[in-house]
Amino acid sequence: MTQELIEGILAAIPLPSVLVDQTERFIAANTEGATLLGPQIIGRHFATILRQPSVTTAIETCLLDRQPRTARHLSNDGAQDTTFEVTLRYVPGVGAVRGGAVLVCFSDITDREQASQMRRDFVANVSHELRTPLTALMGFIETLRGAARNDADARDRFLTIMEGEASRMNRLVGDLLSLNRVESEERVRPKDRINLVDQLQSTIKSLDPLAAAGGTKLRLQAPSIPVEIPADPDQIQQVFTNLIENALKYGGKEVAVVLTVLDRDPALRCPAVRIQVTDDGPGIDPVHLPRLTERFYRADNHRSRELGGTGLGLAIVKHIINRHRGRLRVESDLGQGATFTVILPQ
Ligand SMILES: Nc1ncnc2c1ncn2[C@@H]1O[C@H](COP(=O)(O)OP(=O)(O)OP(=O)(O)O)[C@@H](O)[C@H]1O
Ligand SMILES: [Mg+2]
Repeated sequence: MTQELIEGILAAIPLPSVLVDQTERFIAANTEGATLLGPQIIGRHFATILRQPSVTTAIETCLLDRQPRTARHLSNDGAQDTTFEVTLRYVPGVGAVRGGAVLVCFSDITDREQASQMRRDFVANVSHELRTPLTALMGFIETLRGAARNDADARDRFLTIMEGEASRMNRLVGDLLSLNRVESEERVRPKDRINLVDQLQSTIKSLDPLAAAGGTKLRLQAPSIPVEIPADPDQIQQVFTNLIENALKYGGKEVAVVLTVLDRDPALRCPAVRIQVTDDGPGIDPVHLPRLTERFYRADNHRSRELGGTGLGLAIVKHIINRHRGRLRVESDLGQGATFTVILPQ
């Protein structure tokens, strides 16, 4: 095979690929390969470029026994770690004295690895979240059978706690199912049109008792005319219930919900509506902000659990807003309250 032919075939492979011959030097690389390993690798010994033992050993053995192999190559482009699955195949008849060469292809499997890591974390988190109330329930059942068997006061107290734990589990399962539903519909555009002013009024009405119980003033500021957007009414209700409930639970003495119509949102590049939920509570340390919408992430673990939070609320909110092609922005600082801004296309 001529060098031209070899390079032509390498160029046709859509993955970073290089060819290493019996002299253990690179004899060809496609553009993607040169981008990954560096521009001047042709003629150099492979071990001066690929230093990870799993890859170098695989190339050495493949040159000897001509058997296909796979290895793993980790790289870092300065911004993030990337994991490559490296496949090696022997190509007879090319290279020095036509002794054959090894074709080394790199496929980026970072996304796949991250997805499976996320799945493992998720299962671990769910199990942990369910186990805590379950352990409490089992402990109380044992106490009720034994020490507290004939103590009517203790029995009442324990049953109240058990009810709380059971309803926490119930909420958790409900949130998980709702997250699952939202995720599975994320690519389906909502087809109803709703009047957001009505919708916000009714959401606020349903939360009034919670606000009253905590002595918080909850007010809505919205245009006096209807504001229509394409949206799923139940999901929009869920978004604002979550955000306002958070503001009431973690916030201070005043919660404001402000609806503004925007002629054009620069990021969405279309007419939009902006809804801001602002509280004057203790706020959130900015270090938490980037991760706030992750499942089970709580800025203040202890307080959130104490208030019965599952840590899934904002994850659901984010998925619903994605489905509506909108954006969620959180601004907060310690002692400065928090503002959650939702922008939805009109
Ligand atoms: N307005 C707010 N002020 C301060 N902290 C907040 C506010 N809103 C959310 N947080 C923090 O963000 C975390 C994540 O909120 P999220 O709604 O996802 O979960 P949760 O309220 O704990 O549980 P859930 O909403 O499922 O009952 C909360 O645990 C809380 O620490
Ligand atoms: Mg919440």
